[in-house]
Amino acid sequence: MEALETILERNQQTILLDHLKTLSGEKLENFKKQLQAVDWDYITTLTKEYVLQKPVTAIPDDLSPAPFFPLVPRTDEQKELYAKAKETGKALISAGKVAALTVAGGQGTRLGYNAPKGTFPITPVRKKTLFQYFAESLARVSEKYGFQIPWLIMTSELNDADTRAFFKKNDFFGLSEESVHFFTQGTMPAIRYDGKCFPAEPGSLALAPDGHGGTLLALRKSGLLDAMKKAGVEYISYFQVDNPLVPVVNPFFIGLHALEKSEMSSIMLAKTNAFEKLGNFCITNGKLQIIEYSDMPKELAERTNPDGTLSFLAGSPAIHVITLDFVERLTATGRLELPWHRADKKVAYLENGEIITPEEPNAVKLEAFIFDALPLANRTMILEADRKECFAPTKNKTGVDSVESCREMLAARDARRLRLAGIQVPEGAVVELSPRDVFDDEDAANFFRNLVPTAYGR
Ligand code: UD1
Repeated sequence: MEALETILERNQQTILLDHLKTLSGEKLENFKKQLQAVDWDYITTLTKEYVLQKPVTAIPDDLSPAPFFPLVPRTDEQKELYAKAKETGKALISAGKVAALTVAGGQGTRLGYNAPKGTFPITPVRKKTLFQYFAESLARVSEKYGFQIPWLIMTSELNDADTRAFFKKNDFFGLSEESVHFFTQGTMPAIRYDGKCFPAEPGSLALAPDGHGGTLLALRKSGLLDAMKKAGVEYISYFQVDNPLVPVVNPFFIGLHALEKSEMSSIMLAKTNAFEKLGNFCITNGKLQIIEYSDMPKELAERTNPDGTLSFLAGSPAIHVITLDFVERLTATGRLELPWHRADKKVAYLENGEIITPEEPNAVKLEAFIFDALPLANRTMILEADRKECFAPTKNKTGVDSVESCREMLAARDARRLRLAGIQVPEGAVVELSPRDVFDDEDAANFFRNLVPTAYGR
């Protein structure tokens, strides 16, 4: 207790010191444990940098658009490389060198859904949840390539128990329990504008998830990094829980990543407009960096090439392949070696024993972003993809990137696959294929070729 008090005094955490004195028994023990888990000297450093002053996101002067591999190969050499990448990717998956990773620690505030986002019923007909959709895709692609792909799901303390319970209740949607690995991201204390941290309720520090950049350290701390290495995994196929259209593993992308000896690779999409809410792929100082849509200067976002296309065309759907050795190197110090981003939030606090929910932002939450690892990689690679085949995010209730637009895109993709299999589908029909049967176009053609009309039950 004395050691803890000394540290808190040194860092002027007076609210926490005062609160400690009001507690006893189990509450005191739990609160102490929470406080001991925080590196308070580090929090003081971060407070000076990010809270007491508003950090200005420095936009380098030398920003230029990042080069990428085009969707359609442009040369014979590229054609050959793409074909080889597909075969390489398939071989890597079959050899058990690939794990899938879903970040699902976010709070889904914009969607207004008060449960883990992955439990949201998303598909247009069957209303399968996001988690079920991914699980069925993984089951099919594992079957297809003859290897049970491990699925790593990152939760946060806020939704971990609910997420695990959801999988249990649903028998892991047909996956073997051993192939699904939950791990919980780290937290950071919320910091008031005067630099003080505070309890959110009696005996409980106000904490917030540390952003999806937390994935890297959480992989190490949970022991999964070691476990995956031992199991022979070399590559992680990374995607967000809000995007059911994503191929959970993409043999071509994985193969190209491996052939290019990239440490972290990204899928890019042509932005629909200058201000689409996607991170922008840029090069600065010879390094790849994503500049978040909210930080991109208007002038740069709007800049066009002589042919009228956007200069900074490449947007990020947050789909990556990451080499496991890179994660190991980045987290070797036991600290998250990524910059922090400030978010001003309304955070409940205690006053005279009462929990107050503020009307205005009253504190700063610090978050790390996974894409800030890109400039730290020795080699990176960007591959263009077709939006209709990989990106239908569910972020809002209505409008752009909403439940509605996501369902439309899922139905349109499946209608296209049905037509590919020679089945007539009227324009605008709402159809849904089970990813347990159809993972890709090839599956669609084969599945319907072999279909006995009455056997289609799933
Ligand atoms: C994100 C990206 C943006 C990208 C877009 C594509 C950021 C800052 N920006 O924007 O560059 O173009 O997606 O859809 O991420 N999550 C956690 N833990 C956290 C925070 C988030 O697991 O602490 C997960 C969420 O569950 C979600 C994903 O990260 O799956 C994205 O988070 P979100 O806050 O929705 O990011 P966007 O602003 O939509």
